Amino acid sequence: MASMEELRQGVCENLPEVNEIRDEALRGKVIEAWAFALSQTEFTRIDQIKGSGVPDSPALKDGTQAEHLRGVARMAQGLADGLEAVHGEIGIDRDLLWACALCHDVGKPFEFSPENQARWQNDVGASGFPSIRHSVYGVHVALTVGLPEAVAHTAGAHSAEGELIKRSLENTLVNSADHAYWGAMERAGQLETEGE
Ligand SMILES: [Fe+2]
Ligand SMILES: [Fe+2]
Repeated sequence: MASMEELRQGVCENLPEVNEIRDEALRGKVIEAWAFALSQTEFTRIDQIKGSGVPDSPALKDGTQAEHLRGVARMAQGLADGLEAVHGEIGIDRDLLWACALCHDVGKPFEFSPENQARWQNDVGASGFPSIRHSVYGVHVALTVGLPEAVAHTAGAHSAEGELIKRSLENTLVNSADHAYWGAMERAGQLETEGE
């Protein structure tokens, strides 16, 4: 079993963009969130988790959850760059945007865990399937490690769950980047298709 320090080290190796977060405390909590999320599963690194939106959706041909997170985080910053280039400062918190994007799927170790998947499938009537989606579990992780509520909000509502509420500014950028990531990668032929 990997120690928490080994898990944190792996997170830093998988997500070099974490160093873009200037606030040291926020950066530390982003790393802690992923290390804690991994520690609750059989995964020890983010790059051990297949690169797909949900466990049974088409996966990246070349890449893992680490590349998904990195891509979405950079794309969200790119959206902010484009808006600010034309409109100037519109109130986007760049540090928070990095943290929200890098943590938007922090619940995926739990949802993608083969042990959890097998346990839930064994008695769907008792657990539901999946018992708790990565978005909802991500809220638990974010709040447990003391990340700001805004990061927990993005984890919980970057996905379809967010259709029930109004997303924050940073979450709106993350949601758009996440959606664009999968759409563009599909059109670019970068996702595995049935039968391959
Ligand atoms: Fe997600
Ligand atoms: Fe995502």
